[in-house]
Amino acid sequence: MEVVITPDYEEMSKFAAGMIARQVKDKPGAVLGLATGSTPLGVYRELIRMHGEEGLDFSKLITFNLDEYLGLPPAHPQSYHYFMWENLFKHVNIDPGNVYIPGGITADVEEFCRWYEAEINKAGGIDLQLLGIGGDGHIAFNEPGSSLGSRTRVKTLVLQTIKDNSRFFEREEDIPRFAVTMGVGTILEAKKILLIAGGEKKALVCADFIEGPVTSQVTASALQLHRQVTVVLDEAAASRLKRKEYYNWIRDNKHLVRKYLGS
Ligand code: F6R
Repeated sequence: MEVVITPDYEEMSKFAAGMIARQVKDKPGAVLGLATGSTPLGVYRELIRMHGEEGLDFSKLITFNLDEYLGLPPAHPQSYHYFMWENLFKHVNIDPGNVYIPGGITADVEEFCRWYEAEINKAGGIDLQLLGIGGDGHIAFNEPGSSLGSRTRVKTLVLQTIKDNSRFFEREEDIPRFAVTMGVGTILEAKKILLIAGGEKKALVCADFIEGPVTSQVTASALQLHRQVTVVLDEAAASRLKRKEYYNWIRDNKHLVRKYLGS
């Protein structure tokens, strides 16, 4: 795992957007895995800026989102469909036919999950997967205890998540209790993974998943098993890391590694 510590949220977002932009320029038809939540908003803003000011081209990209609340139609303002169109897709030249987001409303959800996995494979697999991390260490909606080999499936949300969401819904019966989510196993098959986290609230969980044991109780810790993961943190989220100096030393000496390896 490469751990990159940036001074603040802005720099974290720019660094991560820069990595995504490089992927898109290297392979215009790349397959990107995308996340929702508050953390990637800065990354999406920067990508929109790059599209407008630098001509970053999304026209051949294929995207797969991590998750969606079960029961919410795409037009619902709390759905992840709505989030993605509002915060990224409608501002860039992506082909709507190349956008995949798990369906919140499907006649046969198990069949849908199989189809979603098959579509990822048909597209050639995910080249770069963007992730956030939940306060309990979840990636996508793989809550603590999820199998580290899990595939796209329906997951029951933890009570805290249900409670946190309640403020967005007028009627209690509308609050989602389940989500369709890529599994940890699905995520680990991405060729490259980029996880971003910011703020003091994420400091403990970042120390756990980067420097603690691999455990299904902190599903992000499974990323330790992947060969190409970059974690980009701001100073606050990095504040509980024990090996911070080493990560910074690696960053500061990267040019030497490039010199020796000729890369
Ligand atoms: C969203 C997702 C979640 C979030 C996580 C962090 O698609 O998969 O795992 O990344 O809950 O959310 P924020 O960024 O709001 O702290």
